[in-house]
Amino acid sequence: MVKRVLILGGDGFLGWPTALHQSSKGNEVLIIDNYFRRNASAEYKVHTLYEIPSLNDRVKFWKKLKNRQILIEIGDICDYEFLLNSVRNFKPDVIIHYAEQPSAPYSMIGHKEATFTLKNNLIGTLNLIFAVKETNINTHIIKLGTMGEYGTPNIDIEEGYLKIQHNGRNEEFLFPRQAGSLYHTTKIQDTDLLYFYVRVWGLKVTDLMQGPVYGLFTDEMEDCDELLTAFNYDEIFGTVLNRFMVQAVAGVPLTVYGKGGQTRGYLNILDTLNCIDLAIQNPANSSELRILNQFTQTFSVNALADLVIEAANSIGLNTKKETIVNPRKEMENHYYNPSAKGFKKLGLKPNFLTQEVICKILQKIIRFKNKINVEIIQPKTKWT
Ligand SMILES: NC(=O)c1ccc[n+]([C@@H]2O[C@H](COP(=O)([O-])OP(=O)(O)OC[C@H]3O[C@@H](n4cnc5c(N)ncnc54)[C@H](O)[C@@H]3O)[C@@H](O)[C@H]2O)c1
Repeated sequence: MVKRVLILGGDGFLGWPTALHQSSKGNEVLIIDNYFRRNASAEYKVHTLYEIPSLNDRVKFWKKLKNRQILIEIGDICDYEFLLNSVRNFKPDVIIHYAEQPSAPYSMIGHKEATFTLKNNLIGTLNLIFAVKETNINTHIIKLGTMGEYGTPNIDIEEGYLKIQHNGRNEEFLFPRQAGSLYHTTKIQDTDLLYFYVRVWGLKVTDLMQGPVYGLFTDEMEDCDELLTAFNYDEIFGTVLNRFMVQAVAGVPLTVYGKGGQTRGYLNILDTLNCIDLAIQNPANSSELRILNQFTQTFSVNALADLVIEAANSIGLNTKKETIVNPRKEMENHYYNPSAKGFKKLGLKPNFLTQEVICKILQKIIRFKNKINVEIIQPKTKWT
């Protein structure tokens, strides 16, 4: 059955491939985005590796290629009247909420960025909750959280909840959360907002605790430069794997923050799309905050560096790693054992990080080698 899918933040790294994927499945898609990410990249001079066409041009190209229409509205979801009208007019079955300030370093730059992150992320989520309540309480909200909400506790990480026995009595609570940045703190607060309104108003919510996503290739974007999603490799918006791969191509050492034992759960962008599909096909129930951990493999920073070095050397790049002072306040060696049973149960077939996958991304980066600016990789934002 055709679904009406509203994608908040649909111009972003994950939102755009999600829009293409949902459109190619025959669903009706509306994107809302306010270009925050493009504007912030320009303001902090941390451009993506290659130029990205405007959202207008992107959807025109998609229409020409596939004869499918993706609707767009440029606007800020922190503007409640705007969001409410859009939701009222489009009547979505499902809303995928990507529209947040997504960078930990950005949130730690200073007071201006901290205030923006807090307001943008929390008011956006609150407005979405109210818009759904005002229009159709049965709309399924799929919200992007992060594995970073859990931090790195010295116990196994469950999916969302933990059963506690205390003085002979039992209760189930949200799993204890320990953020490592203000950005991650806003994700925890989003979860708390959703948990509250799920209980009082009976919303249907899936909160996805996602790990860092890598990859550039999906069925819809494959081999088509006009449709490619953004690729950031800078200290603010880039992820560690992107930074390492760009450093390998630029011929500079891969910079490992501190001891490099920081371990996280990662996933291929193909699996973000698959997980969203599975969440849409298996919606949360009314009054349910369903929390699913969304990653497929765990790696330490050192392990990622070693994988990139092996792949880079196999295609003739001469690469090594070096240690630099960690700009963040985080544990550099720790226990890490998160559960990811939920999506397995729903049928996820993971796409793993293989040498082939890394080499394919390296080849893409090589095409844009003359655009690389290694200066923007060095960390300037410090936690303390
Ligand atoms: N990319 C990852 O590895 C990753 C990992 C875990 C969680 N997430 C979460 O997934 C979501 C999407 O991440 P991404 O990497 O695609 O980020 P992104 O910055 O590329 O995309 C977010 C989009 O939302 C838009 N936006 C932000 N605030 C808005 C507002 N108030 N109104 C309208 N549009 C707004 C931005 O312009 C941007 O296009 C974020 O919530 C992020 O925290 C991402």
